[in-house]
Amino acid sequence: MTTTRAIANGNMPDKEYGEPVIELTAARKVYRSGTIEFEALRGVDLEIRQGEYVAIMGPSGSGKSTLMNILGCLDTLTTGHYRLAGHDVDDLDEAELAEIRNKEIGFVFQQFNLLPSLEAWRNVELPLMYARVPGHERRARAERALERVGLGSRFVNKPGELSGGQQQRVAVARALVGEPTMILADEPTGNLDSVSTEDVLGLFDELHDLGRTIVLITHELEVAQRARRIVRVKDGLIQGDTAEGALLATVAGGAA
Ligand SMILES: Nc1ncnc2c1ncn2[C@@H]1O[C@H](COP(=O)(O)OP(=O)(O)OP(=O)(O)O)[C@@H](O)[C@H]1O
Ligand SMILES: [Mg+2]
Repeated sequence: MTTTRAIANGNMPDKEYGEPVIELTAARKVYRSGTIEFEALRGVDLEIRQGEYVAIMGPSGSGKSTLMNILGCLDTLTTGHYRLAGHDVDDLDEAELAEIRNKEIGFVFQQFNLLPSLEAWRNVELPLMYARVPGHERRARAERALERVGLGSRFVNKPGELSGGQQQRVAVARALVGEPTMILADEPTGNLDSVSTEDVLGLFDELHDLGRTIVLITHELEVAQRARRIVRVKDGLIQGDTAEGALLATVAGGAA
């Protein structure tokens, strides 16, 4: 059922998207270890617009995490340009990167990355603490975010008292609470069983329907097919992009 939906939507633009959130131009990333250099990204152009739901796929070593680190402002390019939500990221220092990261991006990781000693709502309020939001407002917003992911009755449980799927939903609440421009998820269902996977992907569907921008890295085609666009990375280059496929189909359709 989900596959049909993905195919139906994946090959044609199903709605108008907004301003570019991600503008990556001629992006190269060279890792240096002593005298050895390795070019992990070899000239990537990628534009993702407000409201898109994009999956990034590719074999091990193809450059997905490198790309994710760039998109998430966790690392910078060797050459090329990156604009995030209209800000030039290329020349920012560590502190500026941390600031833009906290404001524009909500992260969801494979390992949940929750702090085990903190109650659910305390985990969720963390991005707001970094953003220096006052305490009473933090609690209210954390509780709203937990209600949003269906965990309204679990505010005070610690991660160890929650199932894997519930923990990942706490992580999604934490990603949402600061109202970031984009949610960046790295293998978010990699540690989940099929029921919890469906839970989390259902949540992403809802967020996409509400106009959120979602970028999801995954090895699993079934997960990628939930996105409206699939970008395939190989050997540090983009090898395929269903958005371009859709454009070609439109051009071919128009010509026929
Ligand atoms: N810090 C580093 N120093 C040197 N080489 C690196 C470094 N990080 C990554 N690489 C190399 O860059 C290439 C891309 O790595 P990357 O981690 O982006 O791959 P990936 O697509 O995320 O793979 P996987 O699916 O296994 O997570 C690999 O060949 C890797 O060995
Ligand atoms: Mg990786």
